[in-house]
Amino acid sequence: MTANGRSRRAWWRDAVFYQIYPLSFADSNGDGFGDLEGIISKLDYLADTLGVDALWISPFYRSPMSDWGYDVSDHTDVDPLFGELATAERLIEEAHARGLRVIFDYLMNHTSIEHPWFVESRSSRDDPKRDWYVWRDPKEDGSPPTNWVSVFSGPAWTLDERTGQYYRHTFLPNQPDLNWRNPDLVEAMLDVARFWLDRGVDGFRVDAAHQMMKDPHERDNPPVPLDYERPWKDMGEYDNFVHLYDFGHPDVHEMHRQFRKTVDSYPQEPVTVGEIHIFDLPEWASYYGENFDQLHMPFNFHLMAADWDAGSLRVAIETILWNVPVGGWTNWLLGNHDERRLATRLGPEHARLAAMLLLSLRGTPFLYYGDELGMTDATIPPGEGMDPWGKKVDYLSRDGARTPMQWSSSANAGFTTGTPWLPVAPNSESTNVASELEDPRSMLNLYRRLLAARRDSKALRIGSFLTHPASNDQVLVYRRESNEEIATVALNLSDEETQVKIRSGTVAVSTVDPDRTETVSKKLLLEPFEGVLVSHQ
Ligand code: NOJ
Repeated sequence: MTANGRSRRAWWRDAVFYQIYPLSFADSNGDGFGDLEGIISKLDYLADTLGVDALWISPFYRSPMSDWGYDVSDHTDVDPLFGELATAERLIEEAHARGLRVIFDYLMNHTSIEHPWFVESRSSRDDPKRDWYVWRDPKEDGSPPTNWVSVFSGPAWTLDERTGQYYRHTFLPNQPDLNWRNPDLVEAMLDVARFWLDRGVDGFRVDAAHQMMKDPHERDNPPVPLDYERPWKDMGEYDNFVHLYDFGHPDVHEMHRQFRKTVDSYPQEPVTVGEIHIFDLPEWASYYGENFDQLHMPFNFHLMAADWDAGSLRVAIETILWNVPVGGWTNWLLGNHDERRLATRLGPEHARLAAMLLLSLRGTPFLYYGDELGMTDATIPPGEGMDPWGKKVDYLSRDGARTPMQWSSSANAGFTTGTPWLPVAPNSESTNVASELEDPRSMLNLYRRLLAARRDSKALRIGSFLTHPASNDQVLVYRRESNEEIATVALNLSDEETQVKIRSGTVAVSTVDPDRTETVSKKLLLEPFEGVLVSHQ
């Protein structure tokens, strides 16, 4: 609180986040897997060279790695692959020493099958922890209790012969669902959050945040109607059903309120960002809570789902901003460890426009490691895939976007002295930190310029967003405006040179020409695929 009793603007609204997939970021001990010591060794790059403000670090907890850490067997310890608990504590300290905030993953929906809670729970029907997971009798014919399918395909129930009951799993059979309707489990999970908050973590990215509360009557999902339009990517078998009953039961909101209360009791003003894959915008927005008492931000995947053309992007951005409750704040991302990389999806020219878009919208940007270099997906040779989803459904493999960070043009892109757990992408010779730092035209230097521009501009960080009338089918133009400053962003998504009318100002960043700094008087010329940030002061 400030002296006049008004809350300060929360830190995370002004921050740019950077997601680290720890297995692939930097390997300090040559075993081929990235680790926490590796991350510590790159904090100067993140804080100073690149210039981000906060890190989201994907799971490094103890895990049998069936889903590469998203299957936790001990929430309060570090897997030996990544280091020790003390390394995680030092990572928080070292990040803070450089002014970086750090958030970790919080896995609400499920644990690993090897978690001691599940081992106990499955041991007998009478075990005190039986109800910490979801166990149900088979139907009379022996089949699973509902027709629900797991996100990774196949039934969402597995029969445990020992006790003759099915357990539920939204993802792999190795990832049994926790039962958030059991108060002891809720308390145990809140203790997990407290454990990391006590160690100074600045918040959580909440995994599968809408999944854990399902229909208490356990009704079957209806099959999709014939004219059904998929809101998101092709999810295979999962898309055969309308998911009415297997996620997002209204009880989920009470769980988020409890979680939020726990988090809010800490002085570091922790942030909670929830993975909410819901494309009905009012429903998505309900995860802020009526009194802003649930998630600080549901993750905003809508830009990733939008078609990449000026008109569709404009509609997507405006619609999202209209649906964020007044006083709320959104975030933007164009990549993460579950999706194909943005440079693969969009190609090199559009990837540069995407960088400008992401870093100039109203809302907190989330960058995915390596996108600042223009890393693209690797093709993994058949039979060498690591992703359990890809092993079930080939085209849904996420390995391609999880390849080692490209630090230099030396062996294994400078990621490891050993054999990397996933192959290094083929463009690492030219697309890497060391080479790109030398080249003013590189993607990395574009990101650095954009990050610096955002840091220095109140209009970009907190200003209002208004689509500019010069927008058309080829060009997206918008204005960001704070009390003191106005900025205009013009993105030419076409392969033709074009001109837009804007008010006078100075070019601050161009996506194609690092030396472009002219004063613009009413007309702004845009090269093919050029994005320009103009500041009016
Ligand atoms: C969402 C995570 O982003 C994904 O990587 C993981 O496989 C599932 N949740 C299951 O935890």
